Amino acid sequence: MSKQKYKYVCQQCSYEASRWLGKCPECGAWNSLVEETIEKKTVAGIQKNGGVRPEPLAQIKPLGVERLDLGMAEFNRVLGGGLVPGTVVLLAGDPGIGKSTLLLQSASYAAQKLNKVFYISGEESAQQIKMRAARVGLDNSNLWLWSETDLDAIEAEIRESLPSLVIVDSIQTIYSAELNSGPGSVSQIREGTTRLLNLAKTLNIPVIIVGHVTKDGMIAGPRVLEHMVDTVLYFEGERHYQYRILRAIKNRFGSTFELGVFEMKNEGLTEVTNPSQAFLAERPLFSPGSVVAACMEGSRPLLVEIQALVSQSSFGQPRRMTTGTDNNRVNLIMAVLEKRVGLNLNFQDAYVNIVGGIKILEPALDLSIALAIASSLKNTPCLSGLAVMGEIGLTGEIRGVPYVYKRLQEAKKLGFKCCLLPAGNVEEKVSGLELLEVKTVREAIDAALA
Ligand code: TYD
Ligand code: MG
Repeated sequence: MSKQKYKYVCQQCSYEASRWLGKCPECGAWNSLVEETIEKKTVAGIQKNGGVRPEPLAQIKPLGVERLDLGMAEFNRVLGGGLVPGTVVLLAGDPGIGKSTLLLQSASYAAQKLNKVFYISGEESAQQIKMRAARVGLDNSNLWLWSETDLDAIEAEIRESLPSLVIVDSIQTIYSAELNSGPGSVSQIREGTTRLLNLAKTLNIPVIIVGHVTKDGMIAGPRVLEHMVDTVLYFEGERHYQYRILRAIKNRFGSTFELGVFEMKNEGLTEVTNPSQAFLAERPLFSPGSVVAACMEGSRPLLVEIQALVSQSSFGQPRRMTTGTDNNRVNLIMAVLEKRVGLNLNFQDAYVNIVGGIKILEPALDLSIALAIASSLKNTPCLSGLAVMGEIGLTGEIRGVPYVYKRLQEAKKLGFKCCLLPAGNVEEKVSGLELLEVKTVREAIDAALA
């Protein structure tokens, strides 16, 4: 018998070493190397393709792909118009955010048109999934539930029954007995993904796998997974808010700009077709510190409320807290407000929040943050019916933003009367919407906090 060989694999970054080390030389993580048996050679991914030779681009016939409809338009759009057969999609997100719910609902919808959909769960028993299905009102005979974690059994069953869609919840729970390391280790995740990928490509079955996210927001077994699959989706949101956002981080079959908005209700996830309206639903009118920003998320305009609270600090060092956007950006905007507008924020605590638990990092948000802070400091509400957009430069100038027309249209659609925007940024006017063009933050504050 040949001597068994071991290697040591970092569970954070999949760095491999021949001996154990306390600290990973690649990513610097401590105590992250775990002993694993050297894997058997998998030839997955390197398929012999029957002697196909290089061809000129012009002669290659386009693939006539028929995408699979997953029921909710928000989900389909993020995928680039539905699920492409033979591809592997990774759905990642925090525990409890609703990944299993989303996939169960989509699988059930797809099963109405397909002959067999497999929902394989390594986390819940078939009875538990059934309970969830009953809760969200699903009942479908073409949806097959299977509580299984053994990769070999899963592979054999898929080859035998040839389902039209496979969902694996989650990649961290399935394991191959051929490898020595435990479920969730980098080698197991790599092996599981490779084999599912191979199944998807050879049998032309779409596979959606769920991936857990570690505490610092990375997919566990990180880059290994992201590189291998065709599409990476993140499902995110604050657990205490009902809104959930689905984003594409990588998509070989569509744009990564799209975003889907869902709402978690008692009877499961529903899509939010008009997110701006939802995000503005509870907005207080005529309140100091509240400003509506016209943002873009990918190719989609989104109106959100920015709130700021500025109050006298009782500590030497004032507190600055931000939720939903970049704290450094907020600090920079406050520095500009101090230096270029002369607002005295030195001894003030400042809290900035994007309402609805969503995250927006677009620079066009700058001006609305500045206005919200100024409005709270002066205790003066913003003009009513005003939507704001504009990036702020270090000299206090307002810089142009892209997609102005789309933003204006969205503001009009939601009943806003006027828009504050960078001077010279308008390509095309929207009738019925008054435009206030400004060049500097000072001008903007004068115009909006009249
Ligand atoms: P789940 O899909 O299990 O999350 P994940 O698979 O990402 O871990 O969703 C879990 C949460 O969603 C749970 O805390 C309860 C809530 N939920 C609802 O509010 N309504 C529902 O209809 C369902 C099924 C779950
Ligand atoms: Mg789950």
